Amino acid sequence: MIDFYLNGQRQQHADVTPDTSVLELLRTRLGQTGTKEGCASGDCGACTVSIGEPDGRGGLSYHSANACITPAHQLNGCHLVTVEGLSRGDALHPVQAAMVDCHGSQCGFCTPGIIMSLFTLHEQQRRRPAPLTQQRMEAALGGNLCRCTGYRPIRDAALRMNEYPDTHPLWADDPDLAGNVATLHTDATKAKPSAGATSQGRFDSPRDLATLRELRRERPQSRLVAGATDLWLESTQQLKILDDIINVRQVAELNTLEETPEGWWVGAAVTYSRLEPLFAEHYPAFEHLMHRFASSQVRNRATLGGNVANASPIGDTPPVLLALDARLALDGPEGAREIPIAEFFLDYKKTALREGEFIRAIFLPRPNADHNLKVWKLSKRREDDISAVLAAFAWRWDNGVMRDVHLAFGGMAGIPKRAPTAEAALEGQAPSQAVFEAAKAALRGEFQPMTDVRGTKEYRSIAAANLLERLRLMLASTSKDSDKKDAEVCLDAYAH
Ligand SMILES: Cc1cc2nc3c(=O)[nH]c(=O)nc-3n(C[C@H](O)[C@H](O)[C@H](O)COP(=O)(O)OP(=O)(O)OC[C@H]3O[C@@H](n4cnc5c(N)ncnc54)[C@H](O)[C@@H]3O)c2cc1C
Ligand code: FES
Ligand code: FES
Repeated sequence: MIDFYLNGQRQQHADVTPDTSVLELLRTRLGQTGTKEGCASGDCGACTVSIGEPDGRGGLSYHSANACITPAHQLNGCHLVTVEGLSRGDALHPVQAAMVDCHGSQCGFCTPGIIMSLFTLHEQQRRRPAPLTQQRMEAALGGNLCRCTGYRPIRDAALRMNEYPDTHPLWADDPDLAGNVATLHTDATKAKPSAGATSQGRFDSPRDLATLRELRRERPQSRLVAGATDLWLESTQQLKILDDIINVRQVAELNTLEETPEGWWVGAAVTYSRLEPLFAEHYPAFEHLMHRFASSQVRNRATLGGNVANASPIGDTPPVLLALDARLALDGPEGAREIPIAEFFLDYKKTALREGEFIRAIFLPRPNADHNLKVWKLSKRREDDISAVLAAFAWRWDNGVMRDVHLAFGGMAGIPKRAPTAEAALEGQAPSQAVFEAAKAALRGEFQPMTDVRGTKEYRSIAAANLLERLRLMLASTSKDSDKKDAEVCLDAYAH
């Protein structure tokens, strides 16, 4: 049974297959066809919806999501808002009015998704007014593609939407809505995991670690899902049937962010959006990467745990975690254990997880004042694209020489990997040109990258060495006695 609110109306639906997406539920079962399917892989944003969850203060907090890759069963205890739910009778919502007046739509296929991304931004601004910076606007719209209008009219609409009378959707008049959703949410958290059984499979949402362990003992072959931004592509792109799913999103112990003197334990189900303030304060290079990581819709649902467990050689966070010497807390039917992340990736898509095991949390060591981290991602598109090569470099200074050098790469091998020979070439050295030449030469011997749609093996080898050269130029240009203005020009170039 899925029990949620859609545009203010309670919805209860039994016998929804475990791999039904929110988009499928809306279009085929509920007849709500305003939400469009473009790519069915989270890339185009045509299916964007807004999902409201209790904010713990008596209200609902809304985030944008791609309906095509959001499991319908994850709607339990939520308020789903779609493009059908925005106007108030004939009166358009400010976002819709601004899009009309700014000519933000031509064929209209992308428009419902763009409206919903802007609606979510509008809601967030209504709750917490803040200047609409270029960065916030790009973050809100970076996951929405439009083939015909051009983005300027859409950007104009975003800039003007707050000038319109704040016409609320009709459901916003219901004083009980937030409370009702919260009650449903609590009821859902009390429901027995078996509530997820349907005639065509299971979708269980355990609420605590003990139940998750138990379910994994009973069904080690079940598929775990967190944000679904990788897993659901197996359904929509590979047309696999996912009929035995365990949802880790509601497991309390996987949703904690625990600070210790040594660092932070990040629960495996914590989303990137929740992590952004931590990254911004303590890992600016990681935070910078987040602007290049997928889209808001994806970051609002996806997790660090999912990125690590997915073990893709082009996943963005594993090289950063390798550079930081992160650790993983694994758990499962046989109990808990902890391993350094360097021991997790065994071979292409093969990990150290044993039968039934899962990632409970990821430990990020607290960076000291003299710790440095640089992360550079190379991809064909700036927004919402997967890396061809990603480099994460960490080191600390010790009287002008580099110590504890960690050079980690994605896209250079079947797994995310450090480059120990190149690291050794830099270890204990001042960052001279000769030392970096030696490190680059070492790097060439360490990786035999593959050729694929994202880059040839030659491109990847040259790009990885060039990222090391970029580090050298950056160090040279930021050193006190530098006169290398040409290096600064290079650093301000497009790739970041
Ligand atoms: C449009 C789009 C853009 C993307 N852009 C990027 C990008 O720029 N960079 C990038 O790195 N990735 C990108 N991704 C991939 C994806 O968003 C990330 O890998 C994300 O971190 C996966 O997290 P999730 O919570 O959605 O994982 P899910 O899809 O829920 O799970 C992924 C895998 O991990 C397993 N799993 C999940 N949680 C656990 C756990 N706690 N323990 C053990 N196994 C678990 C699942 O069974 C599954 O096999 C993109 C995806 C999309 C759709
Ligand atoms: S249909 Fe393209 S992102 Fe969902
Ligand atoms: S208006 Fe046609 S795709 Fe955007």
